[in-house]
Amino acid sequence: ALRSTFARKAQSSEQRPQYALQPQASFKVAVLGAAGGIGQPLALLIKMSPLVSALHLYDVMNVKGVAADLSHCNTPSQVLDFTGPEELASALKGVNVVVIPAGVPRKPGMTRDDLFNINANIVKTLVEAVADNCPDAFIHIISNPVNSTVPIAAEVLKQKGVYDPKKLFGVTTLDVVRANTFVAQKKNLKLIDVDVPVVGGHAGITILPLLSKTMPSVSFTDEEVGDLTVRIQNAGTEVVEAKAGAGSATLSMAYAAARFVESSLRALDGDGDVYECVFVESNLTELPFFASRVKLGRNGVESLISSDLQGLTEYEQKALEALKPELKASIEKGVAFAQKQA
Ligand code: NAD
Ligand code: LMR
Repeated sequence: ALRSTFARKAQSSEQRPQYALQPQASFKVAVLGAAGGIGQPLALLIKMSPLVSALHLYDVMNVKGVAADLSHCNTPSQVLDFTGPEELASALKGVNVVVIPAGVPRKPGMTRDDLFNINANIVKTLVEAVADNCPDAFIHIISNPVNSTVPIAAEVLKQKGVYDPKKLFGVTTLDVVRANTFVAQKKNLKLIDVDVPVVGGHAGITILPLLSKTMPSVSFTDEEVGDLTVRIQNAGTEVVEAKAGAGSATLSMAYAAARFVESSLRALDGDGDVYECVFVESNLTELPFFASRVKLGRNGVESLISSDLQGLTEYEQKALEALKPELKASIEKGVAFAQKQA
């Protein structure tokens, strides 16, 4: 769908369309943290979607200019800006999808969990507002540590009596995007064809690419599996170090988040063939939240794809068992935080 927005430009003057500026579907998307490193390019990519009729940009500062700038793009959606807590409720009214990249990013030497103290409160406050103003919306949590911020969001929604586990998502699309890129590079494959499921969570060893389930089927040596797995797990840190104090992944994250927004909108629009890996409430393992491939539909998660976890290699099976204690502790930390605040 994003491609079709660009494709219009290629038409000759005789074929030039009457620009009706009508979206193909009329979904409203809110981005909370829209003036940030992820928020800005993400807003631009969402502005290109023909499925969006309104884009609500919210931040605690600097969002007016971002919205004014973006509103000049001749794509269908209307862009509205909202600044500060007193405008948060209006930002959320009538919204179908809420994307949350608000919060601080890592600096070299930090783990994602080091962001917990600041970002836990930000996510809690924002999700409370979502519960009050658009409880039926799909909620996409990008703010780290995702392994804890998603359980926090779930608790907040439960406390407000509006939790729908099918509509709360921790965005792990960037792990899949990275896995696809690195595998295609290593095996000299056409990028467009490669799809690697990534399961578990979104930090260090909790990120588990299932290389044996790569489509199209590819064979890897043990050394390749080890190298690729570690590269995918450390890819966030690779960017944090390269940015040397100026933050973490923003552009690739915006690309990945826009893909997940587009998938959600297609599902909301009735497309029956939408699958993504994402961190959700899950019964695929003994952990209450787990990233896996899911089928998305109009009501959110339609089903969890359990087949990816069957027939794992010995390496993957061991890595799966090894990630469970860390992921469990991060989930429990989020739940305990939200329950203590209640
Ligand atoms: P950034 O500092 O550039 O932007 C964050 C934005 O959030 C800022 O504009 C800030 O004003 C805003 N903000 C802060 N408090 C807010 C509040 N209470 N309400 C609304 N907005 C608020 O950071 P960034 O690089 O965009 O990263 C944002 C978050 O995304 C970080 O926590 C980072 O770790 C995370 N991240 C996650 C993934 C992932 O794969 N899930 C990938 C990259 C980054
Ligand atoms: C990423 O994977 O790039 C993000 O989670 C940001 C980070 O801190 O690494």
